[in-house]
Amino acid sequence: MTRGTRIRRSLFALVAGGALAVAVGVPAQAQAEPGVTYGNQPGDVSVNVVGGDPAPEGAYPYIVRLSMGCGGAMITEQVVLTAAHCVDGTGQDTSITASTGSVDLNSPNIVKTQSAYVHAGPGVGPGDWALIKLAKPVANAKTIKMAETADGDKGEFQIMGWGADREGGQQQTKLRHAKVPFVDDGTCAGAYSDLVKDSEICAGLMDQGGVDTCQGDSGGPMVQLAGDVPTVVGIVSWGEGCARPGKPGVYGQVSFLHAEIKKALDGLP
Ligand code: ARG
Repeated sequence: MTRGTRIRRSLFALVAGGALAVAVGVPAQAQAEPGVTYGNQPGDVSVNVVGGDPAPEGAYPYIVRLSMGCGGAMITEQVVLTAAHCVDGTGQDTSITASTGSVDLNSPNIVKTQSAYVHAGPGVGPGDWALIKLAKPVANAKTIKMAETADGDKGEFQIMGWGADREGGQQQTKLRHAKVPFVDDGTCAGAYSDLVKDSEICAGLMDQGGVDTCQGDSGGPMVQLAGDVPTVVGIVSWGEGCARPGKPGVYGQVSFLHAEIKKALDGLP
């Protein structure tokens, strides 16, 4: 199956489902390495961002739910970073609603802000990023920095979203999160011959699977929490199924894409 097919199918599933899908996999059954657990604890039969848990209120204040069924992150008080495959190209666009302010989409604290303009990157592969300029700044917006170097492109990452909690699963109304380890380009290219190594970064549990983003998490941030401040190192992009062993999640690599994103940000109308 080609990557294009996978993406179109996932978008179709989103439209057909009319729902939110969090990128989560099946619960991890085992530990990746001694002392480090990923996803659910053994014996926990709940299912989360595939393999995740409910995120505590306020843990990721920059996270955004977008009305087309994607995630995003506030990078300025008026601009959302998301995936190119979540939007309809570059130009004026007032059709997108951005929800911020709570992990619970049904919370009275949710703030909804309409889009005004979209700048889409080249797309899945060379640059699955897009910027959504909102009609007005979000009050009390909490932003996150984009990674500007590859220093944080290793170790362990935080993933989060309202997407499906398992492959083929339902969108979620409450944000879910999980941790996933970095997968190097060589290993990831072994799983996916069409991986674009420069502009894509992979994460997941190669051997056992079980923890991943999934349909509806697209566009959301993969975050490096180590370091002085949290940074977005990845943008949820694609994968074969969700949380399958040997099939890591693929993310737009922000350290590589940062310069072109910044240029687009500075040029927004
Ligand atoms: N393309 C999907 C979406 O539109 C995201 C898929 C992520 N898949 C994965 N296995 N990590 O929501």
